[in-house]
Amino acid sequence: MPITWRDADRELHLHNGLLSLVLRVHENGWLGQLHAGAPLDPGRSYAHLAALPFTGFSNRLDDPLGFAVPTAGSGDFRIPALVVEGPDGATVLDLAYVAHRIAPGKPALDGLPSTYVEGPDEATTVEVDLRDGPTALTVTLVLTIFEGRAAIARSMRLANHGRDRLVIRTAMSASLDLPAGEWDVLTFSGAWARERHPYRSPLVPGRRSVGSLRGASGHQQDPSIFLVRPETTEEHGEGFAVSLVYSGNFLAEAELGARGATRARIGLPSEGFAWTLLPGATFTTPEAVMAWSNEGLGGLSDTLHDLYRERLARGRWRDRPRPVLLNSWEGVYYDFDHDRLLEMARAAADLGVELFVLDDGWFGERDSDTTSLGDWIVDHRKLPDGLGRLAADMEGLGLSLGLWIEPEMVSPVSRLFAEHPDWAIGVPGRARTESRQQLVLDLSRPEVVDHLEGAFAEILANASVRYVKWDMNRNITEPYGATLPPDRQGEFFHRYMLGTYELWRRLTTRFPEILFESCAGGGGRFDPGMLAYAPQGWTSDDTDAIERLAIQWGTSHVYPLSSMAAHVSAVPNHQVGRVTPLATRAAVAFFGLFGYELDPRHLSADERAEIRDQIAFYRRHRELFQRGRFVRLRAPFGRDDAAWMVVASDRRSAIVARIRILDRPVRVTDRLQLRGLDPGLSYAVETWPAPSPGGRVRRGGDLLQSVGLGLEPSDPPEQAPRGDFRAWIWVLTAE
Ligand code: GLA
Repeated sequence: MPITWRDADRELHLHNGLLSLVLRVHENGWLGQLHAGAPLDPGRSYAHLAALPFTGFSNRLDDPLGFAVPTAGSGDFRIPALVVEGPDGATVLDLAYVAHRIAPGKPALDGLPSTYVEGPDEATTVEVDLRDGPTALTVTLVLTIFEGRAAIARSMRLANHGRDRLVIRTAMSASLDLPAGEWDVLTFSGAWARERHPYRSPLVPGRRSVGSLRGASGHQQDPSIFLVRPETTEEHGEGFAVSLVYSGNFLAEAELGARGATRARIGLPSEGFAWTLLPGATFTTPEAVMAWSNEGLGGLSDTLHDLYRERLARGRWRDRPRPVLLNSWEGVYYDFDHDRLLEMARAAADLGVELFVLDDGWFGERDSDTTSLGDWIVDHRKLPDGLGRLAADMEGLGLSLGLWIEPEMVSPVSRLFAEHPDWAIGVPGRARTESRQQLVLDLSRPEVVDHLEGAFAEILANASVRYVKWDMNRNITEPYGATLPPDRQGEFFHRYMLGTYELWRRLTTRFPEILFESCAGGGGRFDPGMLAYAPQGWTSDDTDAIERLAIQWGTSHVYPLSSMAAHVSAVPNHQVGRVTPLATRAAVAFFGLFGYELDPRHLSADERAEIRDQIAFYRRHRELFQRGRFVRLRAPFGRDDAAWMVVASDRRSAIVARIRILDRPVRVTDRLQLRGLDPGLSYAVETWPAPSPGGRVRRGGDLLQSVGLGLEPSDPPEQAPRGDFRAWIWVLTAE
């Protein structure tokens, strides 16, 4: 049993040989946390880690004890996991252990995305009931440990068993008390077109937090927080990653206390949040996933990648090879008609593209971003014979049709807005803040969700659409639920997310054959919550290869390559104006879900030939790129080059890419030490697309990892190609 209960010590131990979490019912009934992290022998008691019998905080304020569900106001002055206001207005809780249940498998979360299992032997779950006497609030802590994964999923269920109304002020999905010692905090931050750059700094006394109050996880911060030892590298050292399976407002925070104790928490933020729990009602927090590793950042990423790819993403497309696509956006923006699209598609099919995505502009009268969101009716000026005909013509060329949609939005200039102005989010009597000339529909209202389901079901049922890109291009301002009473407005943001998830659930279950991709002005809602519905997301609107190095590097800490769409676009790049070689743009986009975002009618014969090779190469190695183990080798920050690789699970094949950012006049002899290979195997090493001057060489896995792969394969080295933004690719095959 991977979860054991020691009755004598009232101790719960979650263990699977890869990590341990040890909880203990203290003398006063509170649920303590004795240990999280390294796997420990489940046959022993760890009660001594709590130091003294614990009967409460009297005279011992600030004691660095660990708790499973820390509350406020009873002597633990650190960041709490739970704050609930009782009928008297007090927020003090005295949560005493009542019972626990251990069962194989993992239950689903009500209305919320979560990780899952496909059989009861894949995980074990314990539910621990804690009860506050005066309010009759029952808190059920739900912890799942996965078989063969160094990860634990956690959520809380709150049930009001009393006769009075309670108000939840703070309800964190996870709270983690870390072993003493120094920790670095690593978070992933950015902006539109600069998503998820890693930021690492020592945790100093006080708090460090990231979060979102935008109604979406946002471009600015990823809903995760890593705590790693100062000496932890990509390959070595201890670390925790805590990631939230949610797409709306969040808080991820770490605190270093006066006596050296560190606490991390993640969940819904308290700002703008207040949830009324009427007698008999329950509330479920989103799920958080905690991973632990002693093998560095790479070890944490391996665990998250495998779990998110295999048991968070779902549906028929989870395990299928994803198609190479051409997206119309940067190629023609809003300026197209049936014939022009078909010409593009013909050129794309000739290159080996498999799916043609018609992006924004096909509905209403949408010639710019000023109108028509909400009017999901084909624009017959552009597509006189409709989407069905377009799909049929595409299929005639051997291409599937994909379609862009933005369900959650409405343009003030639209029929939908004229008919239902009250469906747009805003505070009556106040002006609405403008953003991209569009407003957000109130998806906390069931009739709005029903309407959108009907509108999109009609489109998707009537044209053979094989892929949908579900966009969301602005954040929520003037949050207000027109159908919620004044004292329940604090529920608005979370109810918006529940409605949005419900719409995702309905459309993805009604159309199980469609490949869904999530998007939000690029990566503005690229998070584990979305991954539960769409197995892939548009990583960023920035398609420049050099910018993408940083974005994909950062994103890869949490998310697998099977979730990261990456496209080759035209130069000068539309976001930064940079001109990079076509080969470099492809070398970066290969490490993700590959596609193009340009007008293929404007390519030269040489470019067409090069792209044909690129697509053939990607299709040949698609399994490796989409499902292989991704290994970060050289970070694209503060140096002149970057490198990464993918390795097959049997370690018999790998592809390595190195991108030179800036060239320098005098080169040093340089070797790239690879990782993840089998040191006992001999690999044939070939360069791509051009074979290296010396031809294919044979190198031992041991040598490639310890001594390294010789860079700039040219003899003499002075003759290696010059210039910025160059890329090299090596294909390694075990012999
Ligand atoms: C967002 C997306 C883009 C494109 C446009 C269309 O910005 O991220 O890829 O679809 O919307 O308006």
